[in-house]
Amino acid sequence: MLRTHTCGELRLSDVNKSVTLTGWAQRTRDKGSLLWIDLRDRYGITQLFLEEGKTDAPTLQLARSIGREYVLKVQGTVVERLSKNDKMPTGDIEIKVSSLEVLNPSKVPPFTIEDNTDGGDDLRMKYRYLDLRRNPVRENLQLRHKMAQQTRVYLDGLNFIEVETPVLIKSTPEGARDFVVPSRMNPGEFYALPQSPQTFKQLLMVSGFDRYYQIVKCFRDEDLRADRQPEFTQIDCEMAFISQEDILNTFEGLVRHLFKHVKGIDLPAVPHMSYAEAMKSYGSDKPDTRFEMKFEELNDLAQGKGFQVFDSAELVVGICAKGCAEYTRKQLDELTEFVKKPQIGAKGLVYVQCKADGSFKSSVDKFYSGEDLKKWAGKFNAQPGDLLLILSGERTKTQKALNELRLKMGDLLGLRDKNKFAALWVIDFPLLEWNEETNRWHAMHHPFTSPKREDLHLLDSQPGQVRANAYDMVINGTEVGGGSIRIHDRPTQQLMFTKLGFSEAEAKKQFGFLMDAFEFGAPPHGGIAFGFDRLCSLFGGADSIRDFIAFPKNNAGRDMMIDTPSTISQEQLDELGIDVKEAKE
Ligand code: AMO
Repeated sequence: MLRTHTCGELRLSDVNKSVTLTGWAQRTRDKGSLLWIDLRDRYGITQLFLEEGKTDAPTLQLARSIGREYVLKVQGTVVERLSKNDKMPTGDIEIKVSSLEVLNPSKVPPFTIEDNTDGGDDLRMKYRYLDLRRNPVRENLQLRHKMAQQTRVYLDGLNFIEVETPVLIKSTPEGARDFVVPSRMNPGEFYALPQSPQTFKQLLMVSGFDRYYQIVKCFRDEDLRADRQPEFTQIDCEMAFISQEDILNTFEGLVRHLFKHVKGIDLPAVPHMSYAEAMKSYGSDKPDTRFEMKFEELNDLAQGKGFQVFDSAELVVGICAKGCAEYTRKQLDELTEFVKKPQIGAKGLVYVQCKADGSFKSSVDKFYSGEDLKKWAGKFNAQPGDLLLILSGERTKTQKALNELRLKMGDLLGLRDKNKFAALWVIDFPLLEWNEETNRWHAMHHPFTSPKREDLHLLDSQPGQVRANAYDMVINGTEVGGGSIRIHDRPTQQLMFTKLGFSEAEAKKQFGFLMDAFEFGAPPHGGIAFGFDRLCSLFGGADSIRDFIAFPKNNAGRDMMIDTPSTISQEQLDELGIDVKEAKE
């Protein structure tokens, strides 16, 4: 080793030791006769100290030439500091430098490598290797490492086997587009990168592996957001000979284990909520249950009083914001503007202020008496001082808009504390959802999900009413994982493909291997996959998963550092038999 200690470990008890340290010069302070250098490595920062007259002249001269991010090796003695820094673990000591070696100089970095950097997003991504030197980003990756370690500890303890599945495969439908890879040896043919290892993990159950897991890269060509990357990581799991309850218990156990061993938090038992209840009470299949503010439907009380907007609505629904009755005109206007934004989509907002004196004031006083409004307030169990916020319109759209308003009010009222965690199982998802664009039914989870036996009779008459053995884990309003009990026999799988609009030949071409396997003794099985990046960012208290991925892509799917996607040579294209008409400049 070039060093005897790291930059994070020396303390008062080490005073008088001769040490050798290596690291990066974070900053230097030259006070004329005295010179300090903060030397940084992954473990911390140690202050170096040189003094005119005491340090030899060439060393001092060399020290004065050191710029930010130079790589240094220093020898010296640990001494007690005169002015201590109780904010640093090494703040009681400094190193009196006797010799100094520049292992490598550095250009001036494009942004400061400190906790609060002056670098913008694009710059940090272009020089991600420098960004990763910063404590907050490095700590995120250390957290990720710990999460992966603890996941393996828990699953290994329950006899799960980690198996790697291939990356060059064919399409697995998870609802996104595939990334495809051309095959040189098979001109005109393509591999798809896995959107998930779904079919392989099911085949491993047919092989008798019984309990499988993999911390695995998945690839989805979809529009990107803060919680979506084109390549991301799943904790992917599958079990045979289990019921849905077994899966929920096993993986609630995983999440509780992670909270306990990574964050030191005892997560309470995770409640179960049906999809129908989640939609009715929160207007979302991933409700943030850190706070209540449940929806109340007002159709029966609000309709038939001459207010055309409510009378013509499929749904009149509201929330009660505690203690907000005194919101000013401006605040109420801002909320109205918020719900009217195109991405929220409401036409307007009705409010009722429950005044401290027990009276009510609303934006629809023309149509409703004090007595009427009192009944509404009763439905919410509203107290004097509360504010009712009400939307109306087509059911699904109105629920969606009110969900956004609820989350906004949660933010405004400080109810979405990043250090508080509320986990939830959402269960009994619909099997199918109607897709307006393709004009056909799509699998809500994926086509391998089994329908609930008791709903099967509805498959022809009311396909949208059939519930699936499918579940999501939601934490703080983020879907961190999802899975299902699978179909494990050929006829049911074939029926499912037919319902999804596949011809028998198409289904056979794409998934014949799976249906064939089901005919060789497939055990009943089911599983789940957690979005590992999402879990990590949630544990780290961040909204974006990007800072928990070493080398992420930007929102346009580009890696700014290596500058990709990029063109390839004509030679490569010819070899692959690909004709690119308009090659990019
Ligand atoms: P699903 O598609 O629900 O299920 O994905 C599982 C979890 O993966 C995370 N996730 C993502 N994270 C980051 N970026 C993305 N683009 C992205 N897409 C999904 C989410 C999600 O809950 N094979 C099934 C699982 C199963 O049935 O066992 C599957 O992939 O947190």
